[in-house]
Amino acid sequence: MSRFFDLVSKPAREMGTTNFPFVVRQPVEHRAVIKLDSNENPFGPSPLALDAMRSALASSSLYPDDDCTQLRLKLAEHHGLPPEQVLVTAGSTGMLSLLCQTLLAPGLNAVTSERSFIVYPMAVHAAGARLREVPMRDDCFDLRAILASIDANTRIVFVANPNNPTGTMVEAEQVEQFLARVPQHVVVVLDEAYYEFALYFASLRRMNYSRSLDYLRQGASAVVLRTFSKAHGLAGLRVGYGLGPAELLGYCARMRNTYSVPSLAQAAAMAALDDAGHIRRVVENNAVQARFLGRELELLGYRVTQTSANFLCCDVNEDAEVLANELREQGVAVRPLGHWGAPNCIRATVGTPEQNQIFLEAMRGPRNSQPRPRLVGSD
Ligand SMILES: Cc1ncc(COP(=O)(O)O)c(C=O)c1O
Repeated sequence: MSRFFDLVSKPAREMGTTNFPFVVRQPVEHRAVIKLDSNENPFGPSPLALDAMRSALASSSLYPDDDCTQLRLKLAEHHGLPPEQVLVTAGSTGMLSLLCQTLLAPGLNAVTSERSFIVYPMAVHAAGARLREVPMRDDCFDLRAILASIDANTRIVFVANPNNPTGTMVEAEQVEQFLARVPQHVVVVLDEAYYEFALYFASLRRMNYSRSLDYLRQGASAVVLRTFSKAHGLAGLRVGYGLGPAELLGYCARMRNTYSVPSLAQAAAMAALDDAGHIRRVVENNAVQARFLGRELELLGYRVTQTSANFLCCDVNEDAEVLANELREQGVAVRPLGHWGAPNCIRATVGTPEQNQIFLEAMRGPRNSQPRPRLVGSD
């Protein structure tokens, strides 16, 4: 038994030291590898954000504005909501943690889907609560089943829309029906980290993606998560935000770590919001390339789930861990989904046209010599 087992809190004990002693791993070699494993933006930050960061560099000796006042005001205007309904955090995962610390405790639970965002269990368990993961229906959140598994001790439901790692989306009508039935003691977290990509896909497919801000205006017991990590290309800066009821955000704000959003991140986010052209290029490339990659992968005999995000989920019909290691040898990093209970699936970020060609070459590579069963492709 270790020296600290009896000292750490019960939630910490239950989460365990998965990595003890705390091993220092070699950093991923960013230059050599085409990084398609973390749903990052292959085009990087907007040039306006880079300029804003350069201008802000000289003030790095000062602590940042803890309330992110200017960014908050700008986001409030951008979304047509009062500033009290905006809370800027260290990435949207920062907001997730705050919500869990504020709403959960031992004896309480949160509900989400199986095969969803890996941070939900971490944030829930760190608060000492339980997470119920409801089976999916056709690779999608099954909102009816989620509704059925809510009980008197449920405080949060997480809906990742689109979902990571499947890339699937639930349409606005389904969300509306769901919200109308969720009991009052539950806060629904509408996690829209891939909002810009999903909105663009939905417009191409003539679908209704999200009316989440309308629900907030109507007083719904919901928090919408957005981030600058994806379409805006600022993942390394850690800036995201929650939109929700002012009182609840006020409680969450009390739980923040002081100065958790750096001044460079605040400056970059403000500028990134102004660069609609950059976002447009990013989402257009993503839609065209997702289609191209999906088709090519299907031609190789793989099954690809239709995505509404900036990555593809692909059933490779073999041990995905082995395949991912082989691809890494060839300089391409993708995510095998064994941890999500899908040991034959990988998740690959949609890259630039050049990166995608290299990824496809690696997929064709030496493995092409083995005959591969043809599967009926999904759309
Ligand atoms: C569903 C979902 N939500 C939130 C995030 C969080 O991103 P960040 O903390 O960088 O804002 C991600 C990132 O991969 C995600 O997939």
